[in-house]
Amino acid sequence: MSATSKTPTLTVQDIRARKGGDPIVSLTAYTTPMAQLMDDHCDFVLVGDSVGMVLHGLPSTLGVTMDMMILHGKAVARGLERALMVVDMPFGSYETCPADAFANAARLMAETGAGAVKLEGGVEMADTIAFLVKRGIPVMAHIGLTPQSVNVFGGYKVQGRGNAGDALMADAHAVAEAGAFAVVLEKIPASLADKITAAIDIPTIGIGASAGCDGQVLVVDDMLGLFAAFKPKFVKRYANLAEQAQAAIADYTTDVRARSFPADEHVFADDTGDTK
Ligand code: KIV
Repeated sequence: MSATSKTPTLTVQDIRARKGGDPIVSLTAYTTPMAQLMDDHCDFVLVGDSVGMVLHGLPSTLGVTMDMMILHGKAVARGLERALMVVDMPFGSYETCPADAFANAARLMAETGAGAVKLEGGVEMADTIAFLVKRGIPVMAHIGLTPQSVNVFGGYKVQGRGNAGDALMADAHAVAEAGAFAVVLEKIPASLADKITAAIDIPTIGIGASAGCDGQVLVVDDMLGLFAAFKPKFVKRYANLAEQAQAAIADYTTDVRARSFPADEHVFADDTGDTK
């Protein structure tokens, strides 16, 4: 759907109301079939800018564009009937000023049918978050290891250890006070994630954070073992689909070379009933 046929049952208010309640379940999705598989299970589905690395082979999320997010957002929307869809704002689409952020967020929502956008940053993005929320755009914040700042961090390192914990706590308060309806906490110490979760009144969504967060999100290809080149410590593999896919491709190759595929059951008879 663009902003058309189906209305997801879950809203940002439903997610917001889960603060301190049953854990909020989320995964990323980038395609219609994957969205369909998770719609009954996830409370919100994130069209993450991780799509750049996972599906497009980019070295980081920095090369992801608005057009890519819109294309994948539309595809995911076609697969959802129940879960809330949140779409990532790509690098460069919201940092310059609140007005630019509004124009791009409005485009993402109008063209994909998303119920909310997500953007990275804490204190420095609070004015932008407030600007968007006051103008009708629900915002999920993302603090801690914010992958779009990988070049500033010097790698995908744990954030918030030692004194840096105070700055992250300030980020959490700033995005909550600015009106974000939830905040992703990525790759921070578990004890800090627990303190932030206790200190702010919006749900925290952990990824490499703590089981004590109000919810969890993972990149679906990571947890399915499909994006096998890369396995961060915080990912639990629930399947090994890359291995299964490789074995299936090898079996197919063997069959084709042996002329044992296609077999009789895969081909069509002519008008005499013969397949040969
Ligand atoms: O882009 C992404 O996949 C994310 C994570 C929080 C999963 O932002």
